[in-house]
Amino acid sequence: MRIVIVGSGKMGRAVAALAEERGHAVEAIGSAENAGGRALTAVRLRGVDVAVEFTRPEAAAANVERLVEAGIPVVSGTTGWEAELPRVAALVERRGGALLHAANFSVGIHLFLRAARHLAGELAGRPEFDAYILEEHHAAKRDAPSGTARVLRERLGKADPARGFPITSIRAGATPGTHVVAYDGPYALSHVARSRAGFAAGALAAAEWLPGRPGVHSFEDMLFGGPG
Ligand SMILES: NC(=O)c1ccc[n+]([C@@H]2O[C@H](COP(=O)([O-])OP(=O)(O)OC[C@H]3O[C@@H](n4cnc5c(N)ncnc54)[C@H](OP(=O)(O)O)[C@@H]3O)[C@@H](O)[C@H]2O)c1
Repeated sequence: MRIVIVGSGKMGRAVAALAEERGHAVEAIGSAENAGGRALTAVRLRGVDVAVEFTRPEAAAANVERLVEAGIPVVSGTTGWEAELPRVAALVERRGGALLHAANFSVGIHLFLRAARHLAGELAGRPEFDAYILEEHHAAKRDAPSGTARVLRERLGKADPARGFPITSIRAGATPGTHVVAYDGPYALSHVARSRAGFAAGALAAAEWLPGRPGVHSFEDMLFGGPG
């Protein structure tokens, strides 16, 4: 496939390296030429099968919009722009485009979300165990709480609406990403990402899956056929 990678940061480079290893033709578009998504034109992207977007919260919506307008299926892993997703999703539907956005492309975290939701259901109505979420990421991560922590809180809240599941965020050091659901006392369930490789592999799998599937998809649609 011909894949355009928008964003040449840590994730963009990791996806590009893996895509090349898997035999795809890769082109990277970095920030210098792409203010407001201006490099993402139909002419520039002719022949591209799919785009993978890992940039910054303030840049993602414009990038995805320009890609959709250019008729390119888009996988976006940028976090922190979820408030703009409904507007962008409406554009995808209007244009018959394809978008798969995920705050976390690790397969393991999605299994973790399912397990956490199950645990929350089992512990609903047991207020003696105070519940909270802890998330820890490297010092350079811009958004807090993490997109994954917010998804986790929403899922846990569905299983046990009586609790708030407050989130504590730590930004320090170089850790790729740790999420913990703790029930004060007996239980803690955690997911620890050891490197960016898992995120890159998930994003690339999504890029290989998305072309030919119009609409707005989640990573869970791809992995499990729908949300857990
Ligand atoms: N979904 C997942 O599984 C997952 C996993 C890890 C990270 N993330 C998220 O992915 C995003 C990127 O993470 P990262 O670790 O790669 O960050 P990063 O190393 O800071 O890279 C971001 C890159 O985007 C570039 N950029 C900014 N605006 C752009 C634009 N309009 N067009 C093209 N490139 C642009 C930046 O360039 P400049 O430095 O020149 O501005 C930078 O090179 C973050 O939102 C992060 O939270 C998601």
